[in-house]
Parts: sequence; C-alpha cells; structure tokens
Amino acid sequence: MSDDPRLSEFQTNEDWLNPRKLSAIFGPTKEREEGARIFVGISGGIAVYKVCTVVSRLAQAGAQVTVAMTENATNFVTPLTFQALSGNPVYTSPWEHLESSDPQHISLADRADAVLIAPCTMNTLSDIVHARTSSVVTLILSAINREKTPVLLAPAMNDAMWSQPSNLRNVEQAQADGNQIVGPGAGWQACRHDGTGRMSEPEDLLKALGIALLG
Ligand SMILES: Cc1cc2nc3c(=O)[nH]c(=O)nc-3n(C[C@H](O)[C@H](O)[C@H](O)COP(=O)(O)O)c2cc1C
Repeated sequence: MSDDPRLSEFQTNEDWLNPRKLSAIFGPTKEREEGARIFVGISGGIAVYKVCTVVSRLAQAGAQVTVAMTENATNFVTPLTFQALSGNPVYTSPWEHLESSDPQHISLADRADAVLIAPCTMNTLSDIVHARTSSVVTLILSAINREKTPVLLAPAMNDAMWSQPSNLRNVEQAQADGNQIVGPGAGWQACRHDGTGRMSEPEDLLKALGIALLG
C-alpha cells in the first residue's frame, strides 16, 4: 500500500466519501494542473446505482471523469444520469463522439490515469479475460497499457454466478493479467440471497481507486 502522506487524512470510511478530502488525491495538485482522469466503465448489473455515488464524489473532488456503459448497463440507469453527474458525455457505443484522427477508444485509454470497471458483470469479466471487445467498455479497456495505468475491476453478481468454476478461473486470470479485483463482499443481494458476490460499497471503490492512483 502507498505511504503517501495524503492518506493520513483518511481515517474512516466516511472520509472516503468526502469530496473535500478526496480532492487532495483526485483534484488538481502541484504536479497536475487538472484533476485526475478517471475512466469508469459500467456493465449491466443491478449495482449500477452504487456507481452514481462514486462518479458524483469523484466529480465533486475535481477529477475528470469519463463514463462508458455497455448497452445492457443502460437498462439499469440512463446515460443521462452519468452525464449529469460526471459533467461529460457518456459513451455507449464505439461509434459515437468520434474525435479528431484518433479512434476514440485509443485516445480515451491513453488519457486515463486510472480505470474502474464497476459493476463488472460475469459477462464483462469473461470478455476482459478473453480479449473480447464487443462493448465500448471492453473496447476502451483493450487499449489500456496496464504497465502505466491501474485497472480495478469490481465484480458484482449472484453468489451462485460468483462461485462458478469458470468465473473463479476468470477472476484468477484477470489478476494474473494485471487487473486489481476489488471485492466482492458478502451479504444481501438483489436476488434475495445472502451470499458472496455483492459489489463493494462506493467508499471501498473510492479508497481502492485513490490508493491505486497514488501508486
Ligand atoms: C435484473 C437483472 C439484473 C442483473 N444483475 C446482474 C449482476 O448483478 N451481475 C451480473 O453479472 N449479471 C447480471 N445480470 C445479467 C447481465 O445483465 C447479462 O449477463 C448481460 O449480458 C451483461 O452484459 P454486459 O456485461 O455487456 O453489461 C442481470 C440481468 C438482469 C435482467
């Protein structure tokens, strides 16, 4: 874990939701004129609602947040919500907001200081591990240089889905490929089960992202 002195400001879980405290890590700094560039990729699970808090706090802390959503994710929360929270256009297809001479997925990937995929569905995790790029989220992720940019995956799924041997193999492979897995936790799930697979809470995601950014 980083021994950056800024971390001493964070003593409780609440601190990791406090935009004023978060701004020391994510906002403009002496070394960086503008806020950190955070790419948030969202796939189609019920936990999307928790990511609204993450994006909102990052934006309030001065980060430059870019959100991309899989088509399935847009069934849970609209792109407009994330556009309003981040203050930036939301990418839902590889074919929109095409900029200059750079294919957007390459320039977005190059620009990111850190990446969070949350919720990371069983399907998107499998796509990442198998180098599939059919959604805009996995396409952007495919162009990330993991030696330079930390990538955090926050799995979220029903406990039986989480425990599938194929899924656990994908989790292991994703870690071996240089992705950091955040969570999942155990507890109440939207499917009315109590088990493992519940996405980490917003404060845990912000903490993992902050620590990853400090290096
Ligand atoms: C109501 C509902 C809730 C779902 N929640 C989850 C979930 O929490 N985790 C998950 O892996 N899949 C979940 N799914 C299934 C995914 O949406 C489905 O596998 C989809 O293909 C994922 O696509 P994506 O990874 O491209 O977003 C849910 C589906 C429905 C209809």
